Amino acid sequence: MAIISSKQPSPDSPKPGGSNGKTRGRVVAAPDDLLQPSASLEEAGRQEETLRPQKLKEYVGQKALKEVLEIAIKAAQARQEALDHLLLYGPPGLGKTTMSLILAAEMGVECKITTAPALERPRDIAGLLVTLKPGDVLFIDEIHRLPRVTEEILYPAMEDFRLDITVGKGQSARMRSIPLHRFTLIGATTRVGALSSPLRDRFGIIQRLQFYELDELTQIVLRTAQLLNTPTTEAGASEIARRARGTPRIANRLLRRVRDFVEVRAKGATIDQPLAADALELFKVDPCGLDLTDRRLLTVMIENFAGRPVGLETLAAATGEDAQTIEEVYEPYLLQIGYLQRTSRGRIATPAAWKHLGYEPPSQQMAFLR
Ligand SMILES: Nc1ncnc2c1ncn2[C@@H]1O[C@H](COP(=O)(O)OP(=O)(O)OP(=O)(O)O)[C@@H](O)[C@H]1O
Ligand SMILES: [Mg+2]
Repeated sequence: MAIISSKQPSPDSPKPGGSNGKTRGRVVAAPDDLLQPSASLEEAGRQEETLRPQKLKEYVGQKALKEVLEIAIKAAQARQEALDHLLLYGPPGLGKTTMSLILAAEMGVECKITTAPALERPRDIAGLLVTLKPGDVLFIDEIHRLPRVTEEILYPAMEDFRLDITVGKGQSARMRSIPLHRFTLIGATTRVGALSSPLRDRFGIIQRLQFYELDELTQIVLRTAQLLNTPTTEAGASEIARRARGTPRIANRLLRRVRDFVEVRAKGATIDQPLAADALELFKVDPCGLDLTDRRLLTVMIENFAGRPVGLETLAAATGEDAQTIEEVYEPYLLQIGYLQRTSRGRIATPAAWKHLGYEPPSQQMAFLR
């Protein structure tokens, strides 16, 4: 599988909960990367590569997504065609890149990986498109950040498998059309709302990745533990999974921290529930998986707004986070675990969130929620 180009995290890319430790090139430092005393961030990125499941069968969870893709793969194979263009979206670390690599492997084609900000000039994308063989996958990460010129080259490429480029300059400039092999574009994004609609409409399949259930994350931890040769009981794995914010990348990272702890404090011991709990307590991992930003968002809502509804922009200004990142990276998990509610007048932290952060919920707010 040829993998070209690499992810270059940029200063304005979201760094949610440390779960956006990018997988190639430099890994972005983020809050829960603070939990990495022994492994460098580079190393964490490399380790992540080795933990990726390679086959659809090994890919835990995301049942609905797998069903849709299994059908698409079978249909495309039966017709001996390339898979339809696919857009995967959802919070970081849920398995978008992993799924794309698996799809290419299942289709028996090559996957070329790039990231939208690396496609700055028309020749960047043109150079990639012309090297694609029939059926190959072109994976573009952070596709919501595609430069306009690149996006316009992609339209005819996706629709008619044709590369339209301008040759020459000024009066002698001419448009040339080069036919391309039929390929599959897989776009991944944490911000589907930031995609232009002409681009979004050119994807045949658009799928959202969901947070993982506790039992699914437990399975992922057990699988990773096996790959890392770290004996772990199911209860130990479940303790780690419970604090992983519904996210496999975080689950794997926490497992590595617990493994360090066990190596130092209880060499040779199996990771069981008490050991996992002790380790995660020591590393100050929130029992509900909240990271620093989650906690800050909730704390601001509680302390600065005393339980009154807060508008997204106000919340962004008060926390110094980007509004879209709050909406698309942090909120989904807080909504899922019932710590945040969206009302017509704004966001509110629920009584469960108050209690979790050690505040006494005001009775007035309870009344508001009812
Ligand atoms: N369904 C799964 N089963 C097992 N492991 C998984 C699964 N999904 C993800 N992982 C693990 O989590 C890690 C992160 O997944 P991946 O890099 O695919 O996330 P992503 O959605 O592309 O994140 P980002 O938005 O930050 O690029 C992988 O290294 C892989 O080991
Ligand atoms: Mg990815």
